[in-house]
Amino acid sequence: MERQKFGSRLGFILVSAGCAIGLGNVWKFPYLCGEYGGAAFILIYLAFLLLLGIPVLICEFSIGRGSGKSVATGFENLEPSGTRWHWMKWIGIIGCYLLMMFYTMVGGWMLYYCWRSIRGEFVQASTEEVANAFNSMLGNAGTLIFWTVLVCVLCFAVCAMGLKNGIEKVSKFMMVALLAIMVVLAIRSVTMEGAEVGLRFYLIPDFNKMVENGIGNVVFGALSQSFFTLSIGIGAMMIFGSYMPKDRALPGEAINITILDTSVALLAGFIIIPACFAFGIEPGAGPSLIFITLPNIFAQMAGGRVWSALFFLFLSFAALTTIIAVYENLIAMMSDLFGWERKKSVLFCLVSMLILSMPAVLGFNVLSGIAPLGEGSTIMDFEDFIVSNNLLPLGSLGYVLFCTRKNGWGWMNFQKEANTGMGLHFPAGLKWYVSWCVPVIIMIIYLKGYYDMFKGGSPLRLAFWMAVAICMLGYVIFSAAGKPKMQATKRGRK
Ligand code: ALA
Repeated sequence: MERQKFGSRLGFILVSAGCAIGLGNVWKFPYLCGEYGGAAFILIYLAFLLLLGIPVLICEFSIGRGSGKSVATGFENLEPSGTRWHWMKWIGIIGCYLLMMFYTMVGGWMLYYCWRSIRGEFVQASTEEVANAFNSMLGNAGTLIFWTVLVCVLCFAVCAMGLKNGIEKVSKFMMVALLAIMVVLAIRSVTMEGAEVGLRFYLIPDFNKMVENGIGNVVFGALSQSFFTLSIGIGAMMIFGSYMPKDRALPGEAINITILDTSVALLAGFIIIPACFAFGIEPGAGPSLIFITLPNIFAQMAGGRVWSALFFLFLSFAALTTIIAVYENLIAMMSDLFGWERKKSVLFCLVSMLILSMPAVLGFNVLSGIAPLGEGSTIMDFEDFIVSNNLLPLGSLGYVLFCTRKNGWGWMNFQKEANTGMGLHFPAGLKWYVSWCVPVIIMIIYLKGYYDMFKGGSPLRLAFWMAVAICMLGYVIFSAAGKPKMQATKRGRK
Protein backbone atom coordinates (compact mmCIF):
# COMPACT_ATOMS: atom_id res chain seq x y z
CA MET A 1 0.00 0.00 0.00
CA GLU A 2 1.44 3.38 -0.95
CA ARG A 3 2.16 5.71 1.95
CA GLN A 4 -0.18 8.71 2.19
CA LYS A 5 1.48 12.12 1.88
CA PHE A 6 0.50 15.61 2.99
CA GLY A 7 -1.03 17.87 0.34
CA SER A 8 1.27 20.78 1.17
CA ARG A 9 4.13 21.87 3.39
CA LEU A 10 1.76 24.14 5.32
CA GLY A 11 -0.44 21.10 5.90
CA PHE A 12 2.49 19.22 7.43
CA ILE A 13 3.47 22.15 9.65
CA LEU A 14 -0.06 22.87 10.86
CA VAL A 15 -1.00 19.24 11.49
CA SER A 16 2.26 18.62 13.39
CA ALA A 17 1.87 21.90 15.27
CA GLY A 18 -1.74 20.89 15.94
CA CYS A 19 -0.46 17.65 17.47
CA ALA A 20 1.94 19.63 19.65
CA ILE A 21 -0.40 22.48 20.53
CA GLY A 22 -2.94 21.19 22.96
CA LEU A 23 -4.00 21.16 26.55
CA GLY A 24 -0.34 21.23 27.53
CA ASN A 25 -0.05 24.73 26.09
CA VAL A 26 -3.35 26.23 27.04
CA TRP A 27 -4.06 24.49 30.32
CA LYS A 28 -0.93 22.96 31.91
CA PHE A 29 1.52 25.68 30.91
CA PRO A 30 -0.38 28.63 32.45
CA TYR A 31 -1.03 26.82 35.74
CA LEU A 32 2.55 25.54 36.00
CA CYS A 33 3.69 29.14 35.44
CA GLY A 34 1.31 30.28 38.15
CA GLU A 35 2.55 27.63 40.58
CA TYR A 36 6.27 27.78 39.86
CA GLY A 37 6.99 31.50 39.77
CA GLY A 38 6.03 32.84 36.34
CA ALA A 39 8.97 33.95 34.24
CA ALA A 40 11.55 31.92 36.21
CA PHE A 41 9.75 28.74 35.17
CA ILE A 42 9.41 29.96 31.59
CA LEU A 43 13.17 30.48 31.26
CA ILE A 44 13.93 26.89 32.30
CA TYR A 45 11.16 25.59 30.08
CA LEU A 46 12.51 27.46 27.06
CA ALA A 47 16.01 26.17 27.77
CA PHE A 48 14.71 22.58 27.78
CA LEU A 49 12.85 23.10 24.54
CA LEU A 50 16.01 24.32 22.88
CA LEU A 51 18.49 21.91 24.43
CA LEU A 52 16.40 18.74 24.49
CA GLY A 53 13.02 19.20 22.80
CA ILE A 54 14.21 20.28 19.36
CA PRO A 55 16.97 17.63 18.99
CA VAL A 56 14.55 14.88 20.04
CA LEU A 57 11.87 16.15 17.67
CA ILE A 58 14.36 16.08 14.79
CA CYS A 59 15.28 12.50 15.71
CA GLU A 60 11.60 11.50 15.74
CA PHE A 61 10.83 13.09 12.39
CA SER A 62 13.97 11.55 10.87
CA ILE A 63 13.14 8.02 12.03
CA GLY A 64 9.59 8.50 10.72
CA ARG A 65 10.67 9.74 7.31
CA GLY A 66 13.57 7.29 7.07
CA SER A 67 11.40 4.27 7.88
CA GLY A 68 8.20 5.45 6.18
CA LYS A 69 6.29 3.84 9.07
CA SER A 70 4.67 4.56 12.42
CA VAL A 71 6.44 3.77 15.67
CA ALA A 72 4.82 0.31 15.63
CA THR A 73 7.11 -0.96 12.86
CA GLY A 74 9.47 1.94 12.07
CA PHE A 75 12.35 0.71 14.21
CA GLU A 76 12.21 -2.73 12.56
CA ASN A 77 12.75 -1.08 9.19
CA LEU A 78 15.91 0.73 10.25
CA GLU A 79 17.58 -1.31 13.01
CA PRO A 80 20.54 -3.57 12.28
CA SER A 81 19.44 -7.18 12.39
CA GLY A 82 19.81 -8.88 15.75
CA THR A 83 19.25 -5.71 17.80
CA ARG A 84 16.31 -4.97 20.07
CA TRP A 85 15.48 -1.36 19.19
CA HIS A 86 12.03 -2.45 18.04
CA TRP A 87 11.15 -2.88 21.72
CA MET A 88 10.77 0.90 21.71
CA LYS A 89 7.49 0.39 19.89
CA TRP A 90 5.79 -0.55 23.15
CA ILE A 91 6.60 2.83 24.63
CA GLY A 92 4.98 4.38 21.54
CA ILE A 93 1.88 2.19 21.39
CA ILE A 94 1.19 2.25 25.14
CA GLY A 95 2.09 5.95 25.33
CA CYS A 96 -0.29 7.06 22.57
CA TYR A 97 -3.13 4.93 23.94
CA LEU A 98 -2.61 6.04 27.54
CA LEU A 99 -2.37 9.70 26.55
CA MET A 100 -5.67 9.51 24.72
CA MET A 101 -7.32 7.54 27.53
CA PHE A 102 -7.53 10.71 29.60
CA TYR A 103 -6.98 13.39 26.97
CA THR A 104 -10.18 12.46 25.12
CA MET A 105 -12.15 12.97 28.32
CA VAL A 106 -10.56 16.36 29.02
CA GLY A 107 -11.30 17.34 25.39
CA GLY A 108 -14.91 16.49 26.28
CA TRP A 109 -14.77 18.82 29.31
CA MET A 110 -13.64 21.62 27.01
CA LEU A 111 -16.48 21.05 24.55
CA TYR A 112 -18.97 20.82 27.40
CA TYR A 113 -17.73 24.10 28.88
CA CYS A 114 -17.99 25.73 25.47
CA TRP A 115 -21.60 24.58 25.33
CA ARG A 116 -22.27 25.76 28.89
CA SER A 117 -20.77 29.16 28.10
CA ILE A 118 -22.91 29.57 25.00
CA ARG A 119 -25.98 28.78 27.09
CA GLY A 120 -24.89 31.47 29.55
CA GLU A 121 -24.68 29.11 32.52
CA PHE A 122 -21.96 31.13 34.22
CA VAL A 123 -23.40 34.59 33.74
CA GLN A 124 -23.34 36.25 37.16
CA ALA A 125 -22.82 32.94 38.87
CA SER A 126 -21.28 33.10 42.35
CA THR A 127 -17.86 31.59 43.09
CA GLU A 128 -19.54 28.73 44.86
CA GLU A 129 -21.89 28.04 41.97
CA VAL A 130 -18.99 27.91 39.49
CA ALA A 131 -17.06 25.49 41.71
CA ASN A 132 -20.17 23.36 42.18
CA ALA A 133 -20.77 23.29 38.43
CA PHE A 134 -17.30 21.77 37.92
CA ASN A 135 -17.59 19.26 40.73
CA SER A 136 -21.04 18.16 39.71
CA MET A 137 -19.79 17.59 36.16
CA LEU A 138 -17.05 15.33 37.49
CA GLY A 139 -19.47 13.50 39.74
CA ASN A 140 -21.90 12.80 36.92
CA ALA A 141 -20.70 9.73 35.02
CA GLY A 142 -23.45 10.10 32.38
CA THR A 143 -22.40 13.64 31.42
CA LEU A 144 -18.72 12.75 31.26
CA ILE A 145 -19.41 9.65 29.17
CA PHE A 146 -21.58 11.60 26.73
CA TRP A 147 -18.96 14.29 26.02
CA THR A 148 -16.09 11.80 25.90
CA VAL A 149 -17.94 9.62 23.39
CA LEU A 150 -18.81 12.69 21.33
CA VAL A 151 -15.16 13.77 21.09
CA CYS A 152 -14.07 10.23 20.28
CA VAL A 153 -16.62 9.80 17.49
CA LEU A 154 -16.04 13.28 15.99
CA CYS A 155 -12.26 12.90 15.91
CA PHE A 156 -12.29 9.39 14.47
CA ALA A 157 -14.78 10.61 11.84
CA VAL A 158 -12.23 13.22 10.75
CA CYS A 159 -9.52 10.56 10.61
CA ALA A 160 -11.79 8.28 8.58
CA MET A 161 -11.88 10.95 5.87
CA GLY A 162 -8.15 10.40 5.29
CA LEU A 163 -4.97 12.40 5.74
CA LYS A 164 -5.43 15.03 3.04
CA ASN A 165 -9.21 15.39 2.95
CA GLY A 166 -9.87 14.92 6.62
CA ILE A 167 -7.02 15.57 9.02
CA GLU A 168 -5.14 18.16 6.96
CA LYS A 169 -8.21 20.22 6.05
CA VAL A 170 -9.83 20.16 9.48
CA SER A 171 -6.58 20.80 11.38
CA LYS A 172 -5.67 23.72 9.10
CA PHE A 173 -9.05 25.32 9.74
CA MET A 174 -8.93 24.77 13.50
CA MET A 175 -5.35 26.00 13.83
CA VAL A 176 -6.01 29.21 11.94
CA ALA A 177 -9.19 29.84 13.94
CA LEU A 178 -7.34 29.06 17.17
CA LEU A 179 -4.59 31.57 16.42
CA ALA A 180 -7.11 34.27 15.51
CA ILE A 181 -9.21 33.73 18.66
CA MET A 182 -6.06 33.74 20.80
CA VAL A 183 -4.92 37.10 19.57
CA VAL A 184 -8.35 38.63 20.29
CA LEU A 185 -8.45 37.12 23.79
CA ALA A 186 -4.88 38.16 24.62
CA ILE A 187 -5.57 41.78 23.61
CA ARG A 188 -8.70 41.76 25.75
CA SER A 189 -6.83 40.37 28.76
CA VAL A 190 -3.76 42.62 28.75
CA THR A 191 -5.85 45.77 28.30
CA MET A 192 -7.94 45.09 31.43
CA GLU A 193 -7.59 47.42 34.36
CA GLY A 194 -5.06 45.98 36.82
CA ALA A 195 -3.51 43.62 34.27
CA GLU A 196 -0.01 45.16 34.77
CA VAL A 197 0.55 43.25 38.01
CA GLY A 198 -0.09 40.02 36.14
CA LEU A 199 2.18 41.04 33.31
CA ARG A 200 4.96 41.78 35.79
CA PHE A 201 4.47 38.37 37.42
CA TYR A 202 4.51 36.74 34.01
CA LEU A 203 7.50 38.55 32.58
CA ILE A 204 9.85 39.18 35.52
CA PRO A 205 11.47 36.03 36.95
CA ASP A 206 10.89 35.37 40.66
CA PHE A 207 13.66 32.93 41.60
CA ASN A 208 12.64 32.99 45.27
CA LYS A 209 9.34 31.36 44.43
CA MET A 210 11.25 28.75 42.50
CA VAL A 211 13.44 27.97 45.53
CA GLU A 212 10.33 27.82 47.73
CA ASN A 213 8.83 25.16 45.45
CA GLY A 214 12.06 23.16 45.39
CA ILE A 215 14.37 23.69 42.42
CA GLY A 216 14.24 19.96 41.60
CA ASN A 217 10.44 20.05 41.29
CA VAL A 218 10.49 23.12 39.08
CA VAL A 219 13.21 21.71 36.82
CA PHE A 220 11.44 18.36 36.51
CA GLY A 221 8.13 20.15 35.88
CA ALA A 222 9.76 22.17 33.10
CA LEU A 223 11.34 19.05 31.57
CA SER A 224 8.11 17.06 31.58
CA GLN A 225 6.25 20.02 30.19
CA SER A 226 8.73 20.53 27.36
CA PHE A 227 8.33 16.89 26.27
CA PHE A 228 4.56 16.90 26.79
CA THR A 229 4.04 20.08 24.82
CA LEU A 230 5.95 18.79 21.79
CA SER A 231 4.33 15.33 22.11
CA ILE A 232 7.78 13.77 21.77
CA GLY A 233 8.87 10.35 22.97
CA ILE A 234 5.83 8.25 22.06
CA GLY A 235 6.08 8.37 18.29
CA ALA A 236 3.18 10.82 17.93
CA MET A 237 5.34 13.10 15.80
CA MET A 238 7.19 10.29 14.04
CA ILE A 239 4.12 9.46 11.97
CA PHE A 240 4.08 12.93 10.40
CA GLY A 241 7.71 12.46 9.43
CA SER A 242 6.59 9.33 7.58
CA TYR A 243 4.00 11.35 5.61
CA MET A 244 6.52 14.01 4.67
CA PRO A 245 8.15 14.32 1.27
CA LYS A 246 11.93 14.64 1.02
CA ASP A 247 12.02 18.21 -0.24
CA ARG A 248 12.59 19.96 3.10
CA ALA A 249 15.30 19.31 5.66
CA LEU A 250 13.87 18.36 9.05
CA PRO A 251 15.67 20.69 11.52
CA GLY A 252 14.07 23.81 10.05
CA GLU A 253 10.62 22.21 10.18
CA ALA A 254 11.13 21.07 13.78
CA ILE A 255 12.12 24.62 14.74
CA ASN A 256 9.07 26.12 12.98
CA ILE A 257 6.78 23.74 14.86
CA THR A 258 8.47 24.47 18.19
CA ILE A 259 8.16 28.22 17.61
CA LEU A 260 4.45 27.88 16.84
CA ASP A 261 3.92 25.67 19.87
CA THR A 262 5.83 28.00 22.20
CA SER A 263 4.05 31.09 20.87
CA VAL A 264 0.69 29.51 21.64
CA ALA A 265 1.80 28.58 25.18
CA LEU A 266 3.13 32.07 25.83
CA LEU A 267 0.01 33.68 24.39
CA ALA A 268 -2.17 31.45 26.55
CA GLY A 269 -0.28 32.83 29.53
CA PHE A 270 -0.95 36.37 28.27
CA ILE A 271 -4.65 35.53 28.17
CA ILE A 272 -4.94 33.86 31.54
CA ILE A 273 -2.43 35.43 33.93
CA PRO A 274 -3.20 39.16 33.51
CA ALA A 275 -6.94 38.38 33.67
CA CYS A 276 -6.44 36.54 36.98
CA PHE A 277 -4.51 39.42 38.51
CA ALA A 278 -6.98 41.98 37.17
CA PHE A 279 -9.65 40.22 39.23
CA GLY A 280 -7.40 39.78 42.26
CA ILE A 281 -7.03 35.99 41.90
CA GLU A 282 -3.68 34.16 42.14
CA PRO A 283 -3.14 32.01 39.03
CA GLY A 284 -1.53 29.12 40.94
CA ALA A 285 -4.83 27.27 41.28
CA GLY A 286 -3.53 24.11 39.60
CA PRO A 287 -5.75 22.19 37.20
CA SER A 288 -8.91 23.95 38.41
CA LEU A 289 -7.58 27.23 36.97
CA ILE A 290 -9.43 26.74 33.71
CA PHE A 291 -12.67 25.33 35.04
CA ILE A 292 -13.20 27.27 38.26
CA THR A 293 -10.98 30.35 38.36
CA LEU A 294 -11.57 31.51 34.80
CA PRO A 295 -15.34 30.95 34.59
CA ASN A 296 -15.48 33.00 37.80
CA ILE A 297 -13.66 35.81 36.08
CA PHE A 298 -15.91 35.59 33.03
CA ALA A 299 -18.94 35.69 35.33
CA GLN A 300 -17.82 39.09 36.60
CA MET A 301 -16.75 40.49 33.23
CA ALA A 302 -18.84 42.64 30.91
CA GLY A 303 -19.74 40.49 27.89
CA GLY A 304 -18.47 37.49 29.85
CA ARG A 305 -20.74 35.06 28.03
CA VAL A 306 -19.14 35.78 24.64
CA TRP A 307 -15.58 35.85 26.01
CA SER A 308 -16.15 32.62 27.86
CA ALA A 309 -17.59 30.87 24.79
CA LEU A 310 -14.66 32.08 22.66
CA PHE A 311 -12.19 30.98 25.30
CA PHE A 312 -13.56 27.46 25.55
CA LEU A 313 -13.86 27.22 21.78
CA PHE A 314 -10.19 28.05 21.57
CA LEU A 315 -9.36 25.40 24.18
CA SER A 316 -11.54 22.86 22.37
CA PHE A 317 -9.74 23.47 19.07
CA ALA A 318 -6.37 23.06 20.80
CA ALA A 319 -7.48 19.76 22.33
CA LEU A 320 -9.19 18.41 19.21
CA THR A 321 -6.22 18.98 16.87
CA THR A 322 -4.04 16.95 19.25
CA ILE A 323 -6.62 14.21 19.62
CA ILE A 324 -7.07 13.88 15.86
CA ALA A 325 -3.30 13.74 15.36
CA VAL A 326 -2.73 11.07 18.00
CA TYR A 327 -5.73 9.04 16.78
CA GLU A 328 -4.07 9.08 13.36
CA ASN A 329 -1.07 7.49 15.04
CA LEU A 330 -3.19 4.75 16.54
CA ILE A 331 -4.83 4.04 13.19
CA ALA A 332 -1.50 3.96 11.34
CA MET A 333 0.01 1.71 14.01
CA MET A 334 -2.75 -0.85 13.59
CA SER A 335 -2.44 -0.74 9.80
CA ASP A 336 1.35 -1.12 10.02
CA LEU A 337 1.16 -3.93 12.57
CA PHE A 338 -1.61 -6.01 11.05
CA GLY A 339 -1.74 -4.81 7.43
CA TRP A 340 -5.36 -3.70 7.90
CA GLU A 341 -7.25 -1.36 5.59
CA ARG A 342 -7.70 2.13 7.01
CA LYS A 343 -11.44 1.60 7.61
CA LYS A 344 -10.85 -1.50 9.69
CA SER A 345 -8.14 0.25 11.74
CA VAL A 346 -10.41 3.26 12.35
CA LEU A 347 -13.19 1.02 13.59
CA PHE A 348 -10.90 -1.00 15.83
CA CYS A 349 -9.31 2.13 17.32
CA LEU A 350 -12.69 3.80 17.84
CA VAL A 351 -14.08 0.85 19.77
CA SER A 352 -10.91 0.31 21.79
CA MET A 353 -10.64 4.00 22.64
CA LEU A 354 -14.28 4.16 23.76
CA ILE A 355 -13.61 1.32 26.16
CA LEU A 356 -10.17 2.43 27.31
CA SER A 357 -11.20 6.00 28.10
CA MET A 358 -13.73 4.77 30.65
CA PRO A 359 -11.35 4.23 33.62
CA ALA A 360 -10.37 7.93 33.58
CA VAL A 361 -14.03 8.97 33.25
CA LEU A 362 -15.25 6.70 36.03
CA GLY A 363 -12.27 7.59 38.21
CA PHE A 364 -14.03 10.85 39.08
CA ASN A 365 -17.28 9.26 40.21
CA VAL A 366 -18.01 5.52 40.33
CA LEU A 367 -14.34 4.60 40.91
CA SER A 368 -13.36 7.68 42.90
CA GLY A 369 -12.27 5.45 45.79
CA ILE A 370 -9.24 4.39 43.74
CA ALA A 371 -6.29 6.71 44.46
CA PRO A 372 -3.30 5.15 42.69
CA LEU A 373 -0.80 7.88 43.59
CA GLY A 374 -1.91 8.44 47.15
CA GLU A 375 -4.77 10.30 48.76
CA GLY A 376 -6.69 12.65 46.50
CA SER A 377 -5.19 11.31 43.27
CA THR A 378 -7.35 9.93 40.47
CA ILE A 379 -7.01 7.36 37.70
CA MET A 380 -6.41 10.24 35.28
CA ASP A 381 -3.49 11.46 37.43
CA PHE A 382 -1.99 8.01 37.30
CA GLU A 383 -2.34 7.73 33.51
CA ASP A 384 -0.90 11.21 33.11
CA PHE A 385 1.98 10.31 35.44
CA ILE A 386 2.88 7.19 33.44
CA VAL A 387 2.84 9.10 30.17
CA SER A 388 4.24 12.51 31.12
CA ASN A 389 6.76 11.53 33.76
CA ASN A 390 7.85 8.22 32.27
CA LEU A 391 7.06 7.31 28.69
CA LEU A 392 7.77 10.72 27.15
CA PRO A 393 11.27 11.13 28.62
CA LEU A 394 12.13 7.43 28.27
CA GLY A 395 10.90 7.26 24.68
CA SER A 396 12.85 10.42 23.89
CA LEU A 397 15.94 8.82 25.34
CA GLY A 398 15.37 5.80 23.09
CA TYR A 399 15.05 7.96 19.95
CA VAL A 400 18.24 9.85 20.67
CA LEU A 401 20.20 6.67 21.42
CA PHE A 402 18.89 5.01 18.26
CA CYS A 403 19.99 7.95 16.12
CA THR A 404 23.44 8.24 17.62
CA ARG A 405 24.67 4.73 18.52
CA LYS A 406 26.70 2.55 16.18
CA ASN A 407 24.55 -0.48 17.00
CA GLY A 408 21.43 1.55 16.13
CA TRP A 409 20.59 3.62 13.07
CA GLY A 410 23.74 5.62 13.68
CA TRP A 411 24.72 9.25 13.41
CA MET A 412 25.53 9.19 9.67
CA ASN A 413 22.17 7.75 8.62
CA PHE A 414 20.32 10.06 10.97
CA GLN A 415 22.15 13.15 9.72
CA LYS A 416 21.65 12.17 6.12
CA GLU A 417 17.90 11.79 6.59
CA ALA A 418 17.50 14.92 8.74
CA ASN A 419 19.40 17.05 6.24
CA THR A 420 17.78 15.77 3.06
CA GLY A 421 16.01 18.66 1.36
CA MET A 422 16.13 22.43 1.48
CA GLY A 423 16.26 24.54 4.60
CA LEU A 424 18.20 24.60 7.86
CA HIS A 425 20.53 21.61 8.33
CA PHE A 426 21.58 19.84 11.52
CA PRO A 427 25.09 21.00 12.45
CA ALA A 428 27.60 18.12 12.41
CA GLY A 429 29.38 19.78 15.35
CA LEU A 430 26.51 18.80 17.64
CA LYS A 431 27.27 15.09 17.39
CA TRP A 432 28.94 14.80 20.78
CA TYR A 433 26.30 16.92 22.48
CA VAL A 434 23.39 14.90 21.07
CA SER A 435 25.10 11.54 21.60
CA TRP A 436 26.17 12.09 25.20
CA CYS A 437 24.82 15.23 26.84
CA VAL A 438 21.18 14.82 25.79
CA PRO A 439 20.85 11.21 27.05
CA VAL A 440 22.70 11.93 30.30
CA ILE A 441 20.60 15.04 31.06
CA ILE A 442 17.38 13.11 30.39
CA MET A 443 18.44 10.22 32.64
CA ILE A 444 19.53 12.42 35.54
CA ILE A 445 16.43 14.57 35.48
CA TYR A 446 14.19 11.55 35.09
CA LEU A 447 15.58 9.82 38.19
CA LYS A 448 15.81 13.04 40.19
CA GLY A 449 12.19 13.79 39.31
CA TYR A 450 11.09 10.48 40.82
CA TYR A 451 13.20 11.07 43.88
CA ASP A 452 11.79 14.55 44.47
CA MET A 453 8.26 13.40 43.90
CA PHE A 454 8.32 10.54 46.41
CA LYS A 455 10.94 11.60 48.96
CA GLY A 456 8.27 13.14 51.22
CA GLY A 457 6.64 9.76 51.97
CA SER A 458 7.92 6.72 53.82
CA PRO A 459 11.36 5.29 52.84
CA LEU A 460 9.63 2.10 51.68
CA ARG A 461 7.41 4.02 49.29
CA LEU A 462 10.40 5.96 47.98
CA ALA A 463 12.37 2.74 47.49
CA PHE A 464 9.43 1.17 45.65
CA TRP A 465 9.03 4.07 43.21
CA MET A 466 12.77 4.42 42.65
CA ALA A 467 12.85 0.71 41.79
CA VAL A 468 10.01 1.28 39.31
CA ALA A 469 11.92 4.17 37.71
CA ILE A 470 15.13 2.16 37.46
CA CYS A 471 13.32 -0.82 35.90
CA MET A 472 11.73 1.41 33.29
CA LEU A 473 15.04 3.06 32.51
CA GLY A 474 16.58 -0.42 32.38
CA TYR A 475 14.05 -1.38 29.70
CA VAL A 476 15.27 1.39 27.41
CA ILE A 477 18.93 0.69 28.08
CA PHE A 478 18.42 -3.05 27.51
CA SER A 479 16.56 -2.34 24.24
CA ALA A 480 19.46 -0.15 23.17
CA ALA A 481 22.15 -2.63 24.14
CA GLY A 482 21.46 -5.32 21.53
CA LYS A 483 24.39 -6.45 19.39
CA PRO A 484 23.99 -6.45 15.60
CA LYS A 485 24.36 -9.89 14.01
CA MET A 486 27.58 -10.27 12.07
CA GLN A 487 27.05 -10.02 8.31
CA ALA A 488 27.01 -13.52 6.84
CA THR A 489 30.38 -14.30 5.30
CA LYS A 490 30.65 -15.68 1.80
CA ARG A 491 31.52 -19.05 3.21
CA GLY A 492 28.55 -19.03 5.52
CA ARG A 493 26.08 -18.37 2.72
CA LYS A 494 24.58 -21.20 0.77
N1 ALA B 1 1.42 18.09 22.96
C1 ALA B 1 0.12 17.90 23.45
C2 ALA B 1 -0.28 18.99 24.37
O1 ALA B 1 0.48 19.90 24.60
C3 ALA B 1 0.01 16.56 24.09
O2 ALA B 1 -1.33 18.98 24.88
